Amino acid sequence: MIEDKFELDEKLKHIAIIMDGNGRWANKRGLPREFGHSRGAETFKKIIEYCKDIKLNVLTVYAFSTENWKRPKKEVDSIMKLLSQYVKECEKSINKYDLCVRFIGDISVFEETLRTRIEKLQRVSANNKFILNIAFNYGGRNEIVYAANKLLSEGKEISEESLSQALYTSHCPDPDLIIRTGGDCRISNFLLWQAAYSELYFTDVLWPDFDKNELNKAINSFYSRKRRYGGLDKDSSSSDKQARKDTLC
Ligand code: IPE
Ligand code: IPE
Ligand code: MG
Repeated sequence: MIEDKFELDEKLKHIAIIMDGNGRWANKRGLPREFGHSRGAETFKKIIEYCKDIKLNVLTVYAFSTENWKRPKKEVDSIMKLLSQYVKECEKSINKYDLCVRFIGDISVFEETLRTRIEKLQRVSANNKFILNIAFNYGGRNEIVYAANKLLSEGKEISEESLSQALYTSHCPDPDLIIRTGGDCRISNFLLWQAAYSELYFTDVLWPDFDKNELNKAINSFYSRKRRYGGLDKDSSSSDKQARKDTLC
C-alpha cells in the first residue's frame, strides 16, 4: 500500500492513460459533449501536476485517436481548439513542471501554425526530465506500419529491436501501467506494440471525475501485482531451486 506522501520507484516509470468518458460525463449533466472535453482537459492538467509530484518519469496520454475523426465536425473542432489552447499554455509551464513534451501520432495533418508551435514546444523542452507523450491523431496499427515502412525505406532489417526503435516512443521505456477510465475494458488501438507486458487497470470513473485519489488506487493495484514476463515468480523459482537441491542431496 502506498503511503500518503510517496514517490514512485524504478518499478513504475511509465504510466499511460486512455482518458475516456468525457462525452458521457457531459451527457449525464444534460450538457453538450464539448463541455466534457473541456473538463477533461482540466483533469489532464491536474494529473500532470500530480505525476510530477510523485516523480513519475514518463506519462503518456491518449487524447485523440486516428479513428476519432469519425465524430461530428463540431466535436472534432472543439477538441482541436482545446489542443491549440493547451499548446499555448504549455509553452509557459514546461519549465515549472520540467516537462519534455513529445507528440506521438501523425501531426502532419495539423494546420501550419499549430504544427510549428508543436515543433517548437518539442524543441525547447527536449532537455527536460519529465516526459509527457501526447498521443494525438495516434493509432497503434498506424504506428507499426509507419515504423516498418521507415525501416524498409532505410534498407534496415526488421527485428523486435529495430522496430521498437522506429516507433514514436523510441525515446522512452514501454508503459508499466496502462489505465483506462470510462468503464470500457479495451485498448482501442493504443500502444499496441508497447503494451505487450503492461499491467492494465480499468475503472468506471469518467475522465473528468478522475483525480489523484483514483490514480493512487491504480498505483496501489499495480504494486500488488507480480510481473512475470512469461517466466516464474522470483519466490517460486527459488523454491524450485531449493527443491532441486534437496532432491540432489
Ligand atoms: C474521450 O472521451 C476523449 C476522446 C475520445 C477524444 P469520449 O469523447 O470518448 O467520451 P465517451 O466515451 O463518449 O463518454
Ligand atoms: C479511445 O476512446 C480514444 C481516446 C481516449 C482518445 P474512444 O472513445 O475513441 O474508444 P472507443 O470508440 O470506445 O473504443
Ligand atoms: Mg469514448
